[in-house]
Amino acid sequence: MKFDIVTIFPEMVKAPLTEGIVGRGIERGLVDVRVHDLRDFTTDRHKVVDDVPFGGGPGMVMKPEPLFRAVETIRADRGAPGAVVLTSPDGPPLTHAVAERLRDLKHVAVLCGRYEGVDERVRQHLATEEISIGDYVLSGGELAALVIVDAVARLVPGVVGDAESVSRDSFATGLLDFPQYTRPAEFEGMVVPPVLVSGHHGEIERWRRRAALARTLERRPELLETSALTAEDRRLLKELLEERERKGAAQ
Ligand code: ADE
Repeated sequence: MKFDIVTIFPEMVKAPLTEGIVGRGIERGLVDVRVHDLRDFTTDRHKVVDDVPFGGGPGMVMKPEPLFRAVETIRADRGAPGAVVLTSPDGPPLTHAVAERLRDLKHVAVLCGRYEGVDERVRQHLATEEISIGDYVLSGGELAALVIVDAVARLVPGVVGDAESVSRDSFATGLLDFPQYTRPAEFEGMVVPPVLVSGHHGEIERWRRRAALARTLERRPELLETSALTAEDRRLLKELLEERERKGAAQ
């Protein structure tokens, strides 16, 4: 999986990529990330990457030429990326489905925008899509680019050591995760649910599925509308809803 990140703060982007699961994916050659300094694609002595907006107003706007030149260079040196993503709070949100789609493209360029503005011609004629990482405004797209690279890279086979842990992740299953515990079985009076130490794998699986459904129902009920539910899941959900009603009535 190839990524090319274009930014005015290359050091800010490079450091986190050396650590953790993505860092290991890079070391193993499964993920190849190049970070490009936007200023390297300017042609003036002062390496200017932004300018005042036409029509006036506060803030600066990122100039189109360096961004177009950066993508041209990436195309020439690394092949045409399957997507040119502009990070922007105006874009559709990053979801597991978006991350899977980008993973399948094998080569993604990410342009780190700035909210004061990016020349509209970049959005219309250079970026193939915009992606937001949430409904809040960051001071720049660098952290968003790292979030996108992390979410996509961990879906590349082999990057996460245990493939099962990726396919069981929240959102991959369409549900939130079930609660996890580790040793000790009792800590300062707080005990682990007995079923988890029972050794009954079938019962553990059922308990986990029910707990994942319960957590999703409580925190993100809208996910249940699009997740793939079995007949048994629907039965468990009915049970959970009845339980909730009983508790509500008792209060
Ligand atoms: N740039 C500024 N805010 C952003 C956000 N929420 N997502 C992606 N890029 C951004």
